[in-house]
Amino acid sequence: QNECYSIAIDGPASSGKSTIAKEVSKILNMEYIDTGAMYRALTWKVLENNLDPKDKKLVLKLLETTNIDFKDGNIYLDGKVINDEIRLNYVSQSVSYIAIIPEVRQKMVELQQNMARCKNIVMDGRDIGTVVLTNAKYKFFLTATIEERALRRYKELNQNGDKEINLKVLEEDIRKRDKIDSNREADPLKQAEDAILIDTTEKSIKEVVDAIVLCVKGGNTVAL
Ligand code: CDP
Ligand code: CDP
Repeated sequence: QNECYSIAIDGPASSGKSTIAKEVSKILNMEYIDTGAMYRALTWKVLENNLDPKDKKLVLKLLETTNIDFKDGNIYLDGKVINDEIRLNYVSQSVSYIAIIPEVRQKMVELQQNMARCKNIVMDGRDIGTVVLTNAKYKFFLTATIEERALRRYKELNQNGDKEINLKVLEEDIRKRDKIDSNREADPLKQAEDAILIDTTEKSIKEVVDAIVLCVKGGNTVAL
């Protein structure tokens, strides 16, 4: 069993975590878990039920009867796949208020640790290297300038037909979310001391993937 190992990938919104983590997991034949999707799934359910994401009591009540799982690249909410719904911008705008609640985090962290047990896993999020998988064999922290990250998300939403999106508003949304995520009391977004920092601003997806795979396969990491 001690042959299993994990790779933790953290970083701010739209720094490329999920794209890169997915690709790395394919190349190294590991499982991939998107922890952000789990917080997004609960947020989507809260909004579907017309609840206020800041109403901790009601959110926790709803959580009691909520089942969240991430399997084979799909996010399941109460047994139903909701991959597309959770990416909508109104979900992004509320998710940090849900993720700030310590009891919500406690439950998600426990689920995530159970998912990773005895498996080769690539997991991405905000607190993977610092809280969820502190023993991960490899830890990476991805960053990019706020302008680049907003632009990436803008292109992505546009491609998915979300034409109402405004680049400046999106940049403000991301800035706000990063601020809440970095300053919250429970498990804030933070680079783990033993994580390798990769600034992806001017790097292609392939360059970042190659750098991580090389590092895991034992090559040097100086180029990062
Ligand atoms: O893809 P993007 O970077 O926009 O977000 P995400 O990874 O899907 O995460 C959405 C939100 O969930 C974050 O802004 C955090 O508030 C929360 N989150 C968290 O608190 N801890 C994690 N491990 C993953 C996500
Ligand atoms: O998971 P996270 O929010 O950190 O980012 P993502 O959803 O993986 O990436 C956001 C967008 O940036 C995607 O459309 C990626 O294709 C793109 N991207 C990029 O253009 N260059 C990179 N080096 C990494 C991601």
